[in-house]
Amino acid sequence: MNRVYIKTYGCQMNERDSEAVGAMLRRRGYSLVNNESDADVVLLNTCSVRDQAEQKAIGKTGYLAKRKRTDPNFVLGIMGCMAQNRGEELADRLPDLDLLVGTQKFHAVPDHLDYILETQKGLGPQPTTIVDLDAEEGSQNTIREHLADKPQVSTFVSIMQGCNMNCAFCIVPKTRGPERARPIEAILDEIEELVDGGTKEVTLLGQIVNSYGRREIPIRGGKSPFVQLLERIQEIKGIERIRFTSPHPRGFRQDLVEAYRDLSKLCEYVHLPAQSGSNRMLKLMNRPYSRERYLEIVDNLKSVFPDMYFSTDIIVGFPGEKEEDFEETVDLFQTVAYDMAFIFKYSIRSGTPAATMKDQVPQKLKEERNQRLLGLLEKSSLARNKSLIGTNQEILIEGKAKRGNLYRGKTRGFRTCLVPSSERLVGELVSVRIDRATASSLYGDLVLGGVDEIGSDELLLPEEI
Ligand code: 5AD
Repeated sequence: MNRVYIKTYGCQMNERDSEAVGAMLRRRGYSLVNNESDADVVLLNTCSVRDQAEQKAIGKTGYLAKRKRTDPNFVLGIMGCMAQNRGEELADRLPDLDLLVGTQKFHAVPDHLDYILETQKGLGPQPTTIVDLDAEEGSQNTIREHLADKPQVSTFVSIMQGCNMNCAFCIVPKTRGPERARPIEAILDEIEELVDGGTKEVTLLGQIVNSYGRREIPIRGGKSPFVQLLERIQEIKGIERIRFTSPHPRGFRQDLVEAYRDLSKLCEYVHLPAQSGSNRMLKLMNRPYSRERYLEIVDNLKSVFPDMYFSTDIIVGFPGEKEEDFEETVDLFQTVAYDMAFIFKYSIRSGTPAATMKDQVPQKLKEERNQRLLGLLEKSSLARNKSLIGTNQEILIEGKAKRGNLYRGKTRGFRTCLVPSSERLVGELVSVRIDRATASSLYGDLVLGGVDEIGSDELLLPEEI
């Protein structure tokens, strides 16, 4: 009666929250399974960023709820953003739901499940849906446990919760609450433990990571709390690479730009959401920067790292987006030549300012604009990968690839690389000579240390012989 399956929708933060819930449940004696049919308890950790994500989770809930008719002890819960966004309405609409847990209450899941299972044994009153959606001070400090049996080479670390921005399209400030940072020391302790478990790369997670600790931690030596945190992680022995997602263009100051120059572990890949290339749209979106400022940050980053890799989020079809606005996004897209991008068709989120704006863009136009950007992305991504053919790239081997006999890993620039390797090299930084490229992957062979790693010119130097 204690096998739990957690299904996660949405962003990396949700993945991380699910993992933490899994770890807490396991500590409480539950076991985690990998599919819903083996589970006595299914928890859906949901996303509200777009309507589609909510509809998917609602559809899944309806489907799973049928199982309760034949198996009354089956337990079904919804956690996370959609629970927070829709609240009791969900419990009313889905009466078979046992549990509804908000984004600041993940740590309460084990207690709630214990209670539900006890009452099923007839030891307490039969519950209706348990609803736990309150705000909780300090909840950012509860997402710290990892699943120890799953040594991960590359691990997410949640450094904060919430968001204080007011982007006109976005539901997240409502679902995640205001910004709260974890203390630096707690984050460092967590990462040191991860290193003991085999982690080599950490990705710091937050809604807007570069505003980390703005209220809690003073600026020191001209450095923001976020850069101070990066500097401390740089010092942790065993960590080889540092990444983070997502920063906001506002507050992407020179101290962070220079961190890419000064911190050798900080990988030269930045996910910098632009949302639009049109100043008019940025204003309507309530994004407090201009296209010019965005491009200035890109240039500043290139000046410390000429081969910097860029990724972004773009929304097409925001209310009022005209052809000329979209052309400016196309132009920005081509100027930056993104290596990676997440392109979203605007989705109405009720309760946000954009939901009631006039000039909503027809779906067909959103689709066309989306396709056009995807086409450009494929080109720039392929061009980048092709430019790497013939080079040696540092790859962190993460594990076996899904297909074939290859292993997968990432370059510092976050390009996926597939390479013949062995289990022994999982978690190792290796050098790979790239000989083939598609838009999504690089292929090559290991460069054996000591021989091929020395360039052939050097091998021929007389004093070497
Ligand atoms: N419609 C479409 N995309 C959205 N995003 C946020 N809200 C919406 C919305 N209402 C996108 C933004 C954000 C990413 C996580 O999701 O691009 O950066």
